[in-house]
Amino acid sequence: MGKPSLTVTDNRTGKTFEIPITNESIRSADFRQMKESPDDFGLMCYDPAFMNTASCTSKITYIDGDKGILMYRGYPIDQLAEKSNFMEVSYLTLYGELPSEAEISQWIYNITHHTLVHEQIKKFMDGFHYDAHPMGMLVSTVAALSTFYPDAKKVRDREVRQLQTHRLIAKMPTIAAYAYRHSVGMRYAYPDNDLSYTGNFLNMLFKTTEVKYKPDPVLERALDILFILHCDHEQNCSANAMRAVGSAESDPYSCVAAAAAALYGPLHGGANEAVLRMLTEIGSKSKIPEFIKKVKAGEGKLMGFGHRIYKNYDPRAKIIKQTADAVFEVTGKNPLLDIALELEKIALEDEYFITRKLYPNVDFYSGIIYQAMGFPVDLFPVLFAIPRTAGWIAQWEEMLDDPEQKIARPRQVFLGYGRRDYVSMSQRAKG
Ligand code: CMC
Repeated sequence: MGKPSLTVTDNRTGKTFEIPITNESIRSADFRQMKESPDDFGLMCYDPAFMNTASCTSKITYIDGDKGILMYRGYPIDQLAEKSNFMEVSYLTLYGELPSEAEISQWIYNITHHTLVHEQIKKFMDGFHYDAHPMGMLVSTVAALSTFYPDAKKVRDREVRQLQTHRLIAKMPTIAAYAYRHSVGMRYAYPDNDLSYTGNFLNMLFKTTEVKYKPDPVLERALDILFILHCDHEQNCSANAMRAVGSAESDPYSCVAAAAAALYGPLHGGANEAVLRMLTEIGSKSKIPEFIKKVKAGEGKLMGFGHRIYKNYDPRAKIIKQTADAVFEVTGKNPLLDIALELEKIALEDEYFITRKLYPNVDFYSGIIYQAMGFPVDLFPVLFAIPRTAGWIAQWEEMLDDPEQKIARPRQVFLGYGRRDYVSMSQRAKG
């Protein structure tokens, strides 16, 4: 083994520098010492879209994109999806260890007893147009929660943070369900504390006139598995938004609103909705070759394919495919499944997708299950945001407790004009 460092020669000056390598990384700030003249700012690293820049250290989620591995706190995602449940996984993600019996009971109690939202939230919801996108409603309503809990501003107070964590994880399903009920013109349904996290969510969405809503156990478990798979995914666009906004010490409701806004985009969590619309538009297996041709010609993307990190099959997509079978036994098969399977087969045999290492991601099959379970298509990104809230808070907590973190403030490489004098309107008219 050689020395864990780089030796860098700045050819402008002929000076040589030794840059330490720690955890397979170098610190960008070490390049600042490389200057052409003493009053230079020093070298910066230019990395648009953070293609090769780590913005933090983390102990939460590990992904090996080449091997298709995903682990929360060291536990492989397939074991968690098979053996655990979302309440336990959210606890694990946030606190780093699997809970004891006493810890999980307390956790479930705390989440269950914060599911109600202030009655004024209903009025706030009522202000949205009937066809407002539920994700827009969720983003705004979760931001509005900060006005109900001004104590949340004390982000350096651990106990205060803990209370907001319970509130956020508990209230996201309630807000999501209210958004749905508003769009279909149904009276808001209150939480039922006898039910599980996902069972209660189904209750708040779909309860009609029955005295007691009984969720179908297969669908309740399937949704729980989907929630496990969506709990965290390290430094993606929305986690990065959560950390960046949180670094200004904004309250966690505002931070979660920012993260959810990032998730809304079709390249991120909005992809599950986009996949469904794409499959519906393709309409039949015979139209797939024509669609693929268009994608290869640069006319749109194959939504639900490709990932910044995974250059192999997304392990979450594999588990979702298995879960689909259990769901379809209850709901009947979603006719779009055949199109999706054929689309995947054709894409995985195609040179364009093979050379770019484009595989199905988590969003490719999730929408097909959601639709079979009766969720409207525009609710899909909301179904992603609910479990991801636990991941966002874990990322936020880790950022706040990291002594190396400061307010997020990237540098820029300025390529605009140098100093120039103002030109009056009359002078401008003269050209
Ligand atoms: N369909 C067709 N071509 C694609 C796709 C796709 N879905 N994804 C990437 N490519 C091409 C891209 O055009 C580029 O080709 P070229 O080298 O010829 O310019 C090459 O593959 C590399 O792609 P990239 O854009 O550099 O990759 P990225 O890491 O910047 O983007 C991504 C990752 C997820 C934004 C992108 O793959 C994408 O837009 N996929 C479709 C949207 C989607 O499914 N998003 C969900 C992601 S998983 C869940 C989540 O994060 O929320």
